[in-house]
Amino acid sequence: MNILIIGSGGRESAFAYKLSSSPKLNKLFIAPGNAGTSQYGQNVDLQVTDFQGIASFVLSNDINMVLVGPEEPLVKGIHDYFLGREDIKHIPVIGPQSEGAQLEGSKDFSKEFMFRHGVPTAAYRSFDKSNLTEGLQYLETQSLPIVLKADGLAGGKGVLICETLEDAKKELQAMIGEAKFGKASSVVVIEEFLKGIELSVFVLTDGENYKVLPSAKDYKRIGEGDTGLNTGGMGSISPVPFADETFLEKVESRIIKPTIDGLKQDGIPYKGFIFIGLMNVGGEPFVIEYNVRMGDPETESVLPRIESDLVDLLEGVANGDLDKRSYTVSPKTAVTIVLVSGGYPGAYQAGMEITNMENVEDSIVFHAGTKEVDGKIVTAGGRVLAVTTLQDSLFEALQQGTADAGRIFFERKYFRKDIGFDLI
Ligand code: AMP
Ligand code: GLY
Repeated sequence: MNILIIGSGGRESAFAYKLSSSPKLNKLFIAPGNAGTSQYGQNVDLQVTDFQGIASFVLSNDINMVLVGPEEPLVKGIHDYFLGREDIKHIPVIGPQSEGAQLEGSKDFSKEFMFRHGVPTAAYRSFDKSNLTEGLQYLETQSLPIVLKADGLAGGKGVLICETLEDAKKELQAMIGEAKFGKASSVVVIEEFLKGIELSVFVLTDGENYKVLPSAKDYKRIGEGDTGLNTGGMGSISPVPFADETFLEKVESRIIKPTIDGLKQDGIPYKGFIFIGLMNVGGEPFVIEYNVRMGDPETESVLPRIESDLVDLLEGVANGDLDKRSYTVSPKTAVTIVLVSGGYPGAYQAGMEITNMENVEDSIVFHAGTKEVDGKIVTAGGRVLAVTTLQDSLFEALQQGTADAGRIFFERKYFRKDIGFDLI
């Protein structure tokens, strides 16, 4: 089987690592990939939304499956594009068509979906230009803090938690009236604030059957103790200690089953990953958001725990017989620590040489923002590397991961030394 992975981050590196261990894999390609993905397959210089270029590559390289990493090509319809072309419609694309991708692409769509199918989530109302005044009045009736969400994709920045009514009104006005997040905030979801502890649950589905993948928790803030600016993710752990069997049973019966059944009832085909962002509110799960892909850096701690052959599972997704595929998970704990460029998530410098990766003792080093220049590996992004270690306990994983993260060198390297420590 020849597989093409679409994407270039730590998530796609983890996919490449996992797929490359499969006896079913023949050739692996990653478009565009990074300096690390080339150790598992061949990088292809194509952008993730260049559907025509991807299609030509797929045809000329005898690709049997396309695995889509990020949300953008899914929301923009890469899967629909394949289905619409006679010459490539038989090639399975892992990731939903654009209609299913609306679960992530439109907060309003996903909230309506959850209410229609009885999936527990925060109370909400949506507003746009036509009823902005009503929206401002609605804010006055709500308790604080209150959550404002741009409906569309806003690069992870479209969610505001407002502590005061003045602030909420000002922001609603800015989002709808002054296009604070461009077109993404022409519709705004105003949502009740949920107080609890967050975690993520991942599901792989062929549209009929599903496997619940390992749960994970990510650490979004730049500073230790979860302080400072939001980032794309500074680390993750899997499993999540507080997501015990009782809690996960509630997640499956109240959220996962109704979601898969709801997609079927609504006639929305869905083959791919569903990433469910959850709030644990006093032991009860509520959905904060759906994503139609795997998380980054959650994938880097989730995939190393899956013992089964991921190519076989993805074949099950493509063929609609996922229920017949074997699926086992390691009881070990994975910790992922992200090494970032100094200054991130603000301005940072790129082009710093990365050395000493060979000194890492017992971790996998996934590349994210890296590239190769004149035989050297240099930084090429804010999030540079994701170091994952798998150990018998969370404590051991944290110790090993932190030590290994410290062994790698590049100028102005920064990483959090407290990933997961809040849960010990
Ligand atoms: P989202 O982009 O929907 O994942 O939201 C980004 C972050 O905002 C989440 O990871 C939560 O930390 C926070 N958040 C979103 N919705 C809520 C909510 N209803 N209550 C509390 N926090 C929320
Ligand atoms: N780690 C959060 C995300 O991938 O959206």
